[in-house]
Formats: sequence, structure tokens, C-alpha cells
Amino acid sequence: MTTIRAERLSRSYGEIVAVDGVTLDFPAGSFTALLGPSGCGKTTLLRLIAGFEAPAEGQILFDDRLIADPLRQIPPESRGVGIVFQSYALWPHMDVAENVAYPLKTRRTAKVEIERKVADVLEIVGLAGFQARRIDELSGGQRQRVALARCLVADAKVILFDEPLANLDMHLRAAMVDVFRDIHRRTGATIVYVTHDQAEALALADRVAVLSRGRLLQVAPPRDVYRAPADATVAGFVGRGAIISGSVVAATGDMSTVEAAGHRFFARGGGKPGPARILLRPEALRLAADGFAARVLDSVYRGPVHEVRLALATGEEVVLDSIDAPAAGAVVHIACSDAWVIPTD
Ligand SMILES: Nc1ncnc2c1ncn2[C@@H]1O[C@H](COP(=O)(O)OP(=O)(O)OP(=O)(O)O)[C@@H](O)[C@H]1O
Ligand SMILES: [Mg+2]
Repeated sequence: MTTIRAERLSRSYGEIVAVDGVTLDFPAGSFTALLGPSGCGKTTLLRLIAGFEAPAEGQILFDDRLIADPLRQIPPESRGVGIVFQSYALWPHMDVAENVAYPLKTRRTAKVEIERKVADVLEIVGLAGFQARRIDELSGGQRQRVALARCLVADAKVILFDEPLANLDMHLRAAMVDVFRDIHRRTGATIVYVTHDQAEALALADRVAVLSRGRLLQVAPPRDVYRAPADATVAGFVGRGAIISGSVVAATGDMSTVEAAGHRFFARGGGKPGPARILLRPEALRLAADGFAARVLDSVYRGPVHEVRLALATGEEVVLDSIDAPAAGAVVHIACSDAWVIPTD
């Protein structure tokens, strides 16, 4: 197992600062999801760790060994890093076994040993017995599994995934999430996993790192990033919800009494009394006999529940999930069971 440490890491392309002073530890055996909007630097950070890019500033350490700084970089093939990209990069003219065995052949592994290892990893990714199939006879999901198997066979201590499921449909993605979890459990590798899909990130990772414009905004367990986002950007990027303005009236420990839209209620977080922005997640709000007065703007059916958009008396919008869809224009009341005061600095 390997601890990866990025210290004050920066990389620019001309005027664009793709990665901007990122300091982030990936503990040995951790599973970290990198989340953030398109262009925020996720792929660049992976490429720096893999060795396809050199840092302009800062350094990368594996355990306590220097892997890269602006002057010296260990070449990618000597880093013991496995990488699976969105495009599978398989050799179409080779069969499954040949593709998977490729990293072992370059290491002159004995033939029986290769056969055994290939069979083992194909079993892990759910492709037992597929050795002789040609790549162009496989579905997208099966190709993705071959790419995964090829990464696993090399027994890397660090595995980097860049949107590995982006080409797959919803059902295949859900099935693959189980495969990834299994891989993490079996290999104990330090995994960094880039995805656009928050549900996937929250389900898979033990830590979520949120990037924006090359900067690290927060790194925390999934539940903390969702329930206690470090700032408004993280709050807006991870999960649904609304941020309304109000004020902290009194704070004791981790809880505050806040005032917003003409109501007093409890919220987690706080700090000093004064103006505050308050995050309201849909599952903490429900239609009730009393509470905030609000006017229904619209409802959209999203599977088991309707997502209802409402305007508070202040004009601010909130969303909640409801089994029944109230009529647009109706005046209703909303009870609030949980809220988070967004930290100010
Ligand atoms: N080879 C390159 N040359 C010039 N600019 C680049 C290059 N690679 C990335 N960039 C720029 O650096 C920034 C970060 O790009 P990066 O690919 O790391 O983003 P990302 O978070 O992976 O985005 P996405 O989610 O769309 O894949 C972007 O503004 C991008 O346009
Ligand atoms: Mg990318």
C-alpha cells in the first residue's frame, strides 16, 4: 500500500492554471473520489500523479519517496501506478487474454503464471471464461471490464480511474460500482477515482475531494461533504438543495439558532452571530401544517418522488421531495428538520 502526497502542486497550460497549489494526502489503501465541474483540473491532477505531466511547482511523494518535482520526475512505468481511462485503450486485434496479459509479458512472467493471473482477474471483473473472445465482439461494459482486468493484473499499489464508467448506461454503471468496491477490498490499492457522477462518488469513495478552478475546496468523507460543505461552491456542486440568506442569532458548540425568511430554527454549524447563508437540503424539508409559508412554483416527477420547487416569502427558492405534487401557485407550509450554516472563511 502506498500513501500519495501532493504538496502545493501546480500545473499550467499557457494562461490556464489547471492545478493551482493543491495539497492533498491520499492515505494508503484509501478510495478518494475527485469531483468538480468540467475543466477544474481532475484529469491534470491524475496525469501528474501518473507521471504524464510534470509539476510546475510543488512535489509528489509516494510514501516518503520523492516522485516528482519541477526538476526531477520518475518515469510513469517506474511508479507502479495502474490507470483506467474513459476510453479503454484496448488492442482490438488481440483477444481478451492477450490484452489482459500485456503488462505481464513486458515483465517476462512465466506462461503458466500469466494464465493463472489472467484467469484470476477475469474472475474478479465478472468475465471468467472470456479469454479467447475478440475485443470487437464485446459490449462497452465488457470492454471496460477488460481494461479494468488489465490494470489489476499488474498488481499496482496505486490505481487511478478517470471517468471509467462514462460510456456505460445507468444499469451497467450500477453493476460496475459493485465491481469497484470489490476491487478495492481485494487489492487494498490506493485508489483515486475521477467522476462527474456524484451518486457514484458518494457511494464508492471513503473520501471525496472537491476541486474548482484548479483549487482544492474540501476533502472529507462523503457524508461530511454532503451534510457540511466547506463553502457555497461545494454546497452547490454536491447534491441538490438551496442556499438562503439569514442570520445566526446564537451559537452554542456545533449548533446555532438561525433566523431566515421570518422564522427561527436550529441549524448545524454556526460560529459568530451575524449574517449567514443557510443550506437546506430537499430531504430535510417537508410539506406541513405550519412552518415557512411558500408558494409552489412547479413539480417534476423524478422516479419515486416529485421534486417540488417553491418560493419563500423572501422570493428565495427551495426544493423538496414529495410523494404528492401540490398544484403550481398553491400556498403551502414547509417544516425544516435540518439545516447547515455555510462557513464564512
Ligand atoms: N494539454 C492541454 N493543453 C492546454 N490546456 C489544457 C490541456 N489539458 C488541460 N487543459 C486545460 O486545463 C484545465 C483543466 O483540464 P482538465 O482536463 O484537468 O479538467 P477536468 O477536470 O479533467 O475536466 P473534465 O471533467 O471535462 O474532464 C482546462 O481548462 C483545460 O482546458
Ligand atoms: Mg477530465
